[in-house]
This record gives sequence, C-alpha cells and structure tokens, in this order.
Amino acid sequence: MTLNTHRWWRDAVIYQVYVRSFLDSTGDGVGDLAGVRTGLPYLKKLGVDGIWLSPFYPSPQHDHGYDVADHCDVDPLFGDLAEFDLLMTDARRLGVRVLLDIVPNHCSSEHPWFREALESAPGGTARARFHFADGRGPDGAEPPNNWHAMFGGPAWSRVTEQDGTPGQWYLHMFTPEQPDLNWRNPEVGGHFDHVLRFWLDRGVDGFRIDVAAGLYKHPDLPDSPDPEADARTRDSVNPLAWNQPEVHDVWRRWRSLCEEYTAEDGRERLLVGEVSVPTAREHARYVRHDELHQAFFFDLLSAPWNADSFRKVISEAMQDIAGTGSTVTWVLNNHDQVRTVTRYGELGTESSGLGAARARAAALLMLALPGAAYIYQGEELGLPEVVDLPDDVLTDPIFRRTGSRARIRDGCRVPLPWSGHASPFGFTPGAESAKPWLPQPAYFAEYATDRALADTRSFWHLYRDGLQLRSGLPQLGEGELRWLDTPPGVLGFVRGDGLVCAVNFGAAPTPAPVSGTPLLSSGPCAPGVLPGSTAAWWISDSAHP
Ligand code: GLC
Repeated sequence: MTLNTHRWWRDAVIYQVYVRSFLDSTGDGVGDLAGVRTGLPYLKKLGVDGIWLSPFYPSPQHDHGYDVADHCDVDPLFGDLAEFDLLMTDARRLGVRVLLDIVPNHCSSEHPWFREALESAPGGTARARFHFADGRGPDGAEPPNNWHAMFGGPAWSRVTEQDGTPGQWYLHMFTPEQPDLNWRNPEVGGHFDHVLRFWLDRGVDGFRIDVAAGLYKHPDLPDSPDPEADARTRDSVNPLAWNQPEVHDVWRRWRSLCEEYTAEDGRERLLVGEVSVPTAREHARYVRHDELHQAFFFDLLSAPWNADSFRKVISEAMQDIAGTGSTVTWVLNNHDQVRTVTRYGELGTESSGLGAARARAAALLMLALPGAAYIYQGEELGLPEVVDLPDDVLTDPIFRRTGSRARIRDGCRVPLPWSGHASPFGFTPGAESAKPWLPQPAYFAEYATDRALADTRSFWHLYRDGLQLRSGLPQLGEGELRWLDTPPGVLGFVRGDGLVCAVNFGAAPTPAPVSGTPLLSSGPCAPGVLPGSTAAWWISDSAHP
C-alpha cells in the first residue's frame, strides 16, 4: 500500500496505543509490541490513519517508559527490535502509519549518561549533560532554587559524591528518576539527531514529542517568581523552566532533519508535540511552517461541558493556529487524563449514561472539526475511568509523590477488554489465568471489543462510521468552519458546502438547526430534533445554511 499522500498529517486521525495496556502476547500481564501487531487489523477496521506508540524503550519503568535508559532499543518487557521491524512491515502493508514517542526533556537515572555523571566529579563533562548545581545554605543542604517538580516535591535531588559526602544537586522536573537533560550542551542535541535517524531509518512515519515546551531552562536557573502557583498545578506555569525561546531552534532542526528523509522518498514524516503553554497564541508559535507539524491542542480536552467554553476554545484555536498555516490537532483523551465518559458525567449520575452520551457527542464534534484528531485506546469502546483501583495496585508516580493524594493516571490505563466474561477479557489471548498489570473491573465485559463490534449502537460503530464518513466527505478534514446561529446551549457549524454539525449541550431537546439529510448522530434523533447531550451531522438542503 502506498503512503505517499502529500501533507497526509493535516487531517489525519491517529490512535494512541498505550502499549502496556493494549494486548499482551506473552502472558505476563503487560501489553507488548507483538500484541500491537496482532491488533493492527482491528485498528485498520476502525479506520484510523496511523498509530502513536507510547514509549517501549529499555526503561526501569518508574514513569512507565517515560524514563528512557536507552533510546535506540526495545525493552524486553515489550519485545525486541526484530519484533518492532515486523510491526513496521505489517503496518506498512495495512497502510497504517506509525509514530513513536520520543522523550527529549529528560532520561532515566539508569541511562549510561546519568550513571557516568554520578560517578564523575563536579564540573566535569559528564555532569554537563544534565543540570547539576551546588546547593544553597551553609552546607549546600538547600536546593539550588525553589522550583517544584510537576509530579510533586522539589525539582532537585542531592547526590552522594564518590567519597561518600553529600554532594551537588540535579534538576528533575518530573520524578528524581527522570533527570532533565541540559539542551545548552550541544552533545545532547547531537545525540537526539542520532536517535531520530535510528528510528527513521527503520521506517517510522514520525514522532510524538514528550514535553515539547520543556528542554531549555533559563540559563541562570533563578528562583521561580511564584513557587506556590507552580506547586498547585500540574501545568507548566513556571516561566523560567518552560517555554524558553531557544526550544524553537530544536524544532526547526528536527523539522529539517525529517525533511531530508522526505526529500529522499517523498514520504512526509510528522512531528507532533505535547505542548502545554498558557495560550493558543503561544501554542501557535510551535507550529510555524518550519517547526513542528502539529501540537496537541489541550484546551478542548480541558473545556468544561458547555457550549460557551467549547465555542471559545474552538474559535481561539481556529484563529491562532490555523493562521500559521498548520492545522489544529484535537484531542479529548490520553494516557494522562480522566476518560471523557467519566469526566463529562456528573457525580452520582454515572448509571444514567449522561457521561457516555456526552462523550459520544464530543467525539462527533471532534471528528467534524477542521484539522487532525487523536483517539486514545479504549475511547472507541466508551471505556469509563476505573475510579476504584485499590491503593496498593496504583503505579503512577504522581500518587506516590503527592503523599497518596493524587489518584490521577492509573484509571485510564487499565488494560483493554477484548472478549469474554472475566478478566483478562482476552487481553492475554489464550491465557485465562494471566493477571493484567492493573486489575480490570468485572464491568469491562460490557465494553469488550467483540461485543462492541457486534452492536451497531456501540461507541465503536459511532467512531468507525464517523471515520468512514470523514474520509469520504470532502467537506470534513481541513478547511473553514462557519458558526451557525443557534439557541443558547447549542453549538452548530457548517463545513464546506453544506455539511452541518450541531451539538446540544443541554438536557432538553431542541429543533435541529438545519433542514437536510441526517448522516450520523451520537444518539437516537427523531426527524427535525436534536435531543439533549447529542451531536449530529447533516448534509444541508441548502448549500449556504
Ligand atoms: C508527558 C507524558 C506523561 C509523562 C511525562 C513525563 O506529560 O504524557 O505520561 O509522565 O510527560 O515524561
């Protein structure tokens, strides 16, 4: 199958595979690359253009692979390079593009560079690849500055020098097992050029870039002006630690490296950044024509369920990002966030299906917006967040580092149900006794892919139908969006010549905002009516509704 379509990424739909929870081929209860390969036909059937694989590199797994000990290999937990190559071959044959997750802001404390830094003296070249600094206070016993780590606690840890004395401190914006790399040292940039080439030479279609507004820190590492604000949020708000101007040089360099490959074979490689910055305007700076192709636009994900907030974030994105010549990259779920079905539910109303109805409506809205969209595994099954995992199974470092207060990320990472009536629900095919690394609740049976495929009212069919229509309708994908006049609580917009999408955020039914042929709706709709918590697509009777 040929994959040479020019600018394919601009309106692509990419499926995020969280490898350890997708499909387990070995019976150890952890998903792996062979499992991903087995699941590819399922993803092809769903209709996505490509997949993004969460990190599978050698790693002690303190942050589930976002602590990389070797950027150019596969952790035995997930397979090996030969298995990766087989996955690439199958993906290519099926016409599914493959993006890898690259983690340039930090590495693992078990990376050879960090080990060497610990074994070498202060001031040497090995420490210059990281941010080592002397502490403050009489014995250097206070951290070098007041920065907070994103996952709780101070952003500095103190090392013990070779002679056994308390020594320098090193910077880690996440956990102590994830030392930040010093991008002011040219060796770091050179290393990552090599890493990109290593995987591009193995045929990948691009990279999802972790923490893409990180990398550079203020050169003097001064105190943050508002450490309390930094500590209160998981957002990158410390203006001295994030979003430094020099980071844009890295994206220009990576873009031109990717373009070298395109020049060879015409196949465009994609760079999509995890960019958390305060405004859509700042965000737009990352997707200028010679920088990243795309950056996840998280404001949609964080918008509360009401028409005004959704309209505001969509309008801002269209205005600021589309102005760069790039397209907006929409996302509602990922491996760091509470799943939409639960997030949009109101406390105590889960059993009413309200969260599920809203999540279905949000999906149709997202798929009708101009630009690219990312779907997180299990979103197509309508999986809810698992909210009652017992403390002793939680593995997210945020839980441990916040003194067991923040239970944030395990509940969306529970291994997928594929079939059957009891755990492991086909997650480990052929091994009924396998124990998934996070326990699956009994109700996962209702969400298993085999049931979803057999039931035309399932989330799966909604996503599949939406994706199919999207790829066949010229109005969807890239292009303009024009808002319709709609009553309060309802959003409606037109795409191209006459494709209308409308969402009723309220509870009461409202008249359909257009007269036309219904194409798809997120719930049952009587003719001419848009029920509460429902979205629908129509082809309007008039070209200019
Ligand atoms: C990103 C990843 C998250 C990880 C963090 C540190 O935010 O999405 O899972 O923990 O970076 O690498």
